[in-house]
Amino acid sequence: MGRTRPRVLITRRLPQEALDRIEARCDMTLYDGDGAMARDQLLTEVAGKAGTITLLTDRVDDEFLDAAGPQLKIVANYAVGFDNIDVDACTRRGVLTSNTPEVLTETTADAAFALMMAAARRVAEGDRFLRSRTPWIWGPLMMLGQDVHHKTLGIVGFGRIGQALARRARGFAMRVLYHDTYRPPAEVEQELAAEYRDLEDLLRESDFVSLHTNLTAQTRHLINAERLAMMKPTAVLVNTSRGPVIAEQALAQALQERQISAAGLDVFEHEPAVHPSLLTCDNAVLIPHLGSATVETRLAMANLAADNLFAGLQDARPPTLLNPEAWQQKAPRA
Ligand code: DGY
Repeated sequence: MGRTRPRVLITRRLPQEALDRIEARCDMTLYDGDGAMARDQLLTEVAGKAGTITLLTDRVDDEFLDAAGPQLKIVANYAVGFDNIDVDACTRRGVLTSNTPEVLTETTADAAFALMMAAARRVAEGDRFLRSRTPWIWGPLMMLGQDVHHKTLGIVGFGRIGQALARRARGFAMRVLYHDTYRPPAEVEQELAAEYRDLEDLLRESDFVSLHTNLTAQTRHLINAERLAMMKPTAVLVNTSRGPVIAEQALAQALQERQISAAGLDVFEHEPAVHPSLLTCDNAVLIPHLGSATVETRLAMANLAADNLFAGLQDARPPTLLNPEAWQQKAPRA
């Protein structure tokens, strides 16, 4: 990394072990405030840095890269999703950029399964009910939900996390359908006993639909009023991907009108804002983007982001690089 310590910006407090590793090797500026850095401050602080660890709440675009300056080598994103990063803009400038895949797969699949169970079995509603101190006694028709076991699960986006969810579903004897623009090898379909469906058929046939797509121009509002209307009235919709994959207004209406039975949402269209109508829907289980939020996983993500940062600073290939084209531009020709 050379004799002078590279200057880096870390845009939010990360697990301490990773910060210690970064501080041992770099001249680190850490934003330690509450919430995301204000845009102006982000643009000011990134100026002159050789590397940065960004969060999904930081927009990395031409403006950011201009503000950073030509010495910037790497933008290491602390998330598997990278819709906050203009990867092409990084590549045009020869700036490497990376994300944190793999280390959060199982944890995020656990969260999706937890939301499925909670929404189907009315866990959050039952908790709220007891806390309201309403008098009650066990009753045959009280707060009936939907069975999860032996039902049909439709997974939209069959990458790592979608497949990890399919593995969990087998333990519940669920039938698994999936939709993706990419078809995995036949062995994967066989191992997971997962059947491909086009999106509309998946929505019509599934009792549970769980979303695991990246957010792109093609997946924005993938689940809209028209597609919600294709779902069963008993269906449960779960989203641990990105909020804008669902048209939130349409979902709130579908939940209010019991067009579908329930939803479990980790992410929101205008995050951190939650659509006010969702907040009044008892059949929506809402959690604040906690998909990867365990002690172990957040540390693993921070260590992976740090490894990517160190590699980029040393002109080595980051382990989970998003823009190999930028790397090829740098690599000495054989
Ligand atoms: C991600 O990594 O993209 C999640 O949304 C946060 O872990």
